[in-house]
Amino acid sequence: MDKKIIYMDHSATTPVDSQVLDEMLPYFTKNYGNPSSIYSIGRESKKAIEDARERVAKAVFAQPREIFFTGSGTEADNWAVKGVAYSNKNKGNHIITTTIEHHAVMHACQYLESDGFEVTYLPVDENGLVSPEQVLEAIKPNTILISIMFANNEIGTIQPIGEIGKIARDKGIYFHTDAVQAIGNIPINVSELNVDLLSISAHKFYGPKGIGALYIRKGVKITSFIHGGAQERGRRASTENVAGIVGLGKAIEIATLNIDDYNKKLIELRDRTIFEIMKKIPFVRLNGHQHKRLPGNVNFSFEFIEGESLLLMLDMKGIAASSGSACTSGSLDPSHVLLSIGLPHEIAHGSLRLSFGKDNTHEDIDQLMKELPVIVERLREMSPLYEKVKRGN
Ligand SMILES: Cc1ncc(COP(=O)(O)O)c(C=O)c1O
Repeated sequence: MDKKIIYMDHSATTPVDSQVLDEMLPYFTKNYGNPSSIYSIGRESKKAIEDARERVAKAVFAQPREIFFTGSGTEADNWAVKGVAYSNKNKGNHIITTTIEHHAVMHACQYLESDGFEVTYLPVDENGLVSPEQVLEAIKPNTILISIMFANNEIGTIQPIGEIGKIARDKGIYFHTDAVQAIGNIPINVSELNVDLLSISAHKFYGPKGIGALYIRKGVKITSFIHGGAQERGRRASTENVAGIVGLGKAIEIATLNIDDYNKKLIELRDRTIFEIMKKIPFVRLNGHQHKRLPGNVNFSFEFIEGESLLLMLDMKGIAASSGSACTSGSLDPSHVLLSIGLPHEIAHGSLRLSFGKDNTHEDIDQLMKELPVIVERLREMSPLYEKVKRGN
C-alpha cells in the first residue's frame, strides 16, 4: 500500500500485530508437525496449542479445558446456538435472542426455526439496549437457550450481560454471548457474568483471520459441531490451524494486558469525533448508546445522503470506514440493526460507522473532520429534499 490509508474500520478487522506474527511464523515452516503425531515436532505443535488455550482461558477467567478452537467467530456462534439446541431438545425447543444479533447468530436461529425450534427475537430500545426484564418475561418452561451479544458490531451498544447471565443461571437456562466485538475492548470474566458459552474471533483484536474459539463452561450439554477425528477432545474435528491458534493466543494476551490504556485512548478519539461531528454537521443522529458503547465505536446517520456514496468519497480521500447498508451481500437493504433501533429506511441508508484502533491518532481525526463535512455537504447538494429544507419549505 503506497498511499497512506487512514483506517477507521477496526470492527470489520484489524491488522495482525507484529509480535503476533513473529510467534506464528515458525508454525508455518520450521514447526510444521501435526499436533496429533507423536514425534517431537508434532508434540511441539501440540504444546503450542495448549499454551494458547491457557492464554485464552486466562483472558476470560476460564479453565483451559473449557476453551475449544474453531475456524472463526461465525463457527463459534453456530456451534453454540445449534449445538445447545440439538443437545437439549428433549428439555425444550425455545430460544431467546435479539433482533440486533450478528448474522452468525441470527441466521443460525432462523435455520433452527426451519427445523422445529421456536425463537423469540427480543426488540431493543432506541439506543440498542435489551432490558433484563424483557428477557425474564420471555422465558417459558421450554426455553433452553438465551443468546445475546455482548456488544453490537454496528452501533457499539454494550448489553447488560451480567444481569442477563444472572437471570439465565437462576432459571437454569444456558446463556451464550457473542463476544466477538467485546474481547480486547471490555474486561470479561465468564464466572462473574454467569456466561455458559462465549464466542471469540482473533481478527478483531490484532490476531489472524480464520481462527476463533468457543468457551463452553464445564458441564454444558452441547453436541459436537464438526465430526471426524479426535481433535479438540472429539468435539471439533480437523487438523488444528496451529499458527492461527498460536496467533489467537498471543493476540488475546496482548489485548487483555493493555486493555486499560487502549480503552482510554479509544474513548478519547471516540468522544472527540462524536463531539465534532455533532458540532460541525447539521441533520445528524448518533446511533447507539451515548456511554454504554464500545470505546472505539462511532456511528452516525446523516440525513439526505446515501451511505455508500459517502464511503466511496471518503475512500478517495484515503479514509477507510463502513456503512450501515448490507451492500456486500448484493442488496442495498439498510442494516437490520439500524432498523431495529427505529431508524426509518432513508435515514438508515445514510449511516457511517467509524471504528478506531491502536494506530489511530488525533491527526487522523483532524483529517477526517477536514474531509467529512465537505463530503456530506457535497452529497446533500445532490438531494432535492435537502434543497427544500435549506430553502425552508
Ligand atoms: C459480533 C460479531 N459476531 C460474529 C462475527 C463473525 O466473526 P468471524 O469474522 O470470525 O466469522 C463478527 C464479525 O464481523 C461480529 O462482529
